Amino acid sequence: MKKVVVCLLAFVLLGLPSWADEGMWIPMLLKKYNIEDMQKAGFKLTAEDIYNINQASLKDAVVGLGFERSPFFHFCTGEIVSDQGLVITNHHCSYSMIQAHSTLEHNYLRDGFWAKSLKEELTNPGITASILVRMEDVTEKIRAAVNDGMDEVTRAKKIKEVCERLEAAAVEGTNLKANIKPYFNGNQYFMCVFKIYRDVRLVGAPNSAIGKFGGDTDNWMWPRHTGDFSVLRIYAGPDNEPAAVSSSNVPYKPARSFKISARGIKEGDFTMVFGYPGTTKEYLTSFAIDQVAEVENPHKVKIRTAKLNVINAAMESDELLRIKYSAKAASVANAWKKWQGEIKGLERFRTAEHKRELEQRFDAWANASGKKQYVGLTARYRELYDARRDYILASAYASEAGLGGAEVLGLIASLDKAFETYGETEDKEAFKNRLKEFARAFYKDYDAETDSRILKEMLALYNNGGLAEEWIPEEVRAAGDDLTGKLFHKSIFTSQERLEAFIDNLSPKAIAKARKEPLYRMMTGIQTMAKEKIMPRLSEIERELTMLNRTWVAGLMEMQPDKVFYPDANSTLRVAYGKVAGYEPRDGVYYLPYTTLSGIMEKDNPAIYDYDVPQRLKDLYHAKDFGPYAQDGDVPVCFVATNHTTGGNSGSPVLDAEGNLIGVNFDRAWEGVMSDMQYSAEICRNIAVDIRYVLFIIDKYAGARRLIEEMDIVF
Ligand code: ARG
Ligand code: GLU
Repeated sequence: MKKVVVCLLAFVLLGLPSWADEGMWIPMLLKKYNIEDMQKAGFKLTAEDIYNINQASLKDAVVGLGFERSPFFHFCTGEIVSDQGLVITNHHCSYSMIQAHSTLEHNYLRDGFWAKSLKEELTNPGITASILVRMEDVTEKIRAAVNDGMDEVTRAKKIKEVCERLEAAAVEGTNLKANIKPYFNGNQYFMCVFKIYRDVRLVGAPNSAIGKFGGDTDNWMWPRHTGDFSVLRIYAGPDNEPAAVSSSNVPYKPARSFKISARGIKEGDFTMVFGYPGTTKEYLTSFAIDQVAEVENPHKVKIRTAKLNVINAAMESDELLRIKYSAKAASVANAWKKWQGEIKGLERFRTAEHKRELEQRFDAWANASGKKQYVGLTARYRELYDARRDYILASAYASEAGLGGAEVLGLIASLDKAFETYGETEDKEAFKNRLKEFARAFYKDYDAETDSRILKEMLALYNNGGLAEEWIPEEVRAAGDDLTGKLFHKSIFTSQERLEAFIDNLSPKAIAKARKEPLYRMMTGIQTMAKEKIMPRLSEIERELTMLNRTWVAGLMEMQPDKVFYPDANSTLRVAYGKVAGYEPRDGVYYLPYTTLSGIMEKDNPAIYDYDVPQRLKDLYHAKDFGPYAQDGDVPVCFVATNHTTGGNSGSPVLDAEGNLIGVNFDRAWEGVMSDMQYSAEICRNIAVDIRYVLFIIDKYAGARRLIEEMDIVF
């Protein structure tokens, strides 16, 4: 702790970045800001080796995984590891794809899946793989279109117009897609141009006992033993260009793929993570931190705890329920656990206090400099966050306990939106078929009994969880036991059969009648509360906060002209660099930075679902049949490093000093998850699965030699 303070001081005095290893950097600016520092830390290549628009560079082997309907949001990252478009990402990134292909007969989640030939690789319509072609700083072009006198709404509209024009012009006559995003809270703008492939197939995934070993028990934790990887392949048209899913597509030939190093790592080695981090909030003020730690997180955690208790009990009781609910449970539990870690980390690192000190310095500087946009800024922050408190809490309940609570309410909300266009846009039969399609997908993973129990818990919390009465919708207050009992099980919306019958006889009258159902009325009540009472003022507050944040970050940069700032994550390609390092989770304890197969055997417990080690893995272990992937007589499994990462970095390549793939990023350590708001090199760690474990599982465990042969592995 003390050591860190000394370093900090030295950095402040020297004007260097305040934390070594902190930061998610922009690839095109590495040359300007980071490369010397990276090389000092051990990196052996140049900035052009990472990002070069004139010839192939490492960036061409990094893919952002997305959805066709929202191509610029990347839910995960992947890396190309062969000249035939083979991609490695996480098991949890492909989880929904694996689940979608799973049935009770072919349970790929439970048993794993390995395509034996290209023909057996499974298509996933709707999933995309984006490769960054180039980026460009367009700040000046956008600045030219706005001025300080504009109100936020006009300004946003203007910026949107300019962005659309620039994006269209940038890709005119090509099959590329351009997207401009704000950086540094709207102080800068960069355009990213992508080639987006639309045929991404599932090639292989280990069984969950490996790919999700430790499950939600170990999630966000170190030491870790999860083989969290899966294998995909990008397909392209015969011309190697993006094409819709088709049997005439062929494996994509990339400009660049990663070489894999099986040479091993040791503490202190340089590492770099190259991927698509989603969202961070490093420049929040103390007022915001307090609100997260004291209001938002505790309530959301409480609501999700209740929900998880119901879902987990259902999953324990029945194998089919486990299939239906495992992806949902994982996603509910994921943020639930992170929020708890965040609260602890923010307290432990006294983040709000540090921010308050910064704010005091800022105020003094602002007053002395007399720049009027900065004077009184922090006071206004305080007022706004005070005003925001009730609204954000009511909004958390409306979404976590309300529309995102029992699933049936979410279903009704979606149908309600569809009903509004009934008879307007498309042919009635087509409309009905579309609704039925939607309903089928919903009910595939739905269990009415479980959902009724969730609703019961949610209503109890909505009413008695600490929300002031004025924020509780009438229908929620009035709900009695019959709503989660008899009425629930008679509702049109809690059975596929009843809903399909309803759709068959759809008419404005039938819709009007359905709207009177108690569940429907409850959905409407929550929506109305949100629309009429919460959102108008909350959006106003958020709009002003957006403006303040822009000013605040601009001010911080002005106040510390020698400090190199990095922009918050925004789902664009970034580089984080650091080193392999253990850490002290608490007084007197040091965690080594790597784990091994022996550690999996230590955790083995057939009675606990998350720790049930597959027999085949035990056999390989006892026979010491490790192939060329062992080190010191054991197979390395996971490691931790100081790379600054966040959600979206899942599946990102973890590279060594020569740019070789040494691991696949999949998580962060619990003690340091507050890094989205404050990074500390002392304790923030990203967790990667060691590439040697990945290769061991593919080769020795799954016997998928054809994949190993495609890869370029150096031993
Ligand atoms: N915590 C990791 C992430 O944020 C892994 C999540 C999936 N795994 C799980 N057990 N829920 O994505
Ligand atoms: N598991 C996260 C993801 O899905 C990565 C862990 C993190 O948040 O750093 O991207």
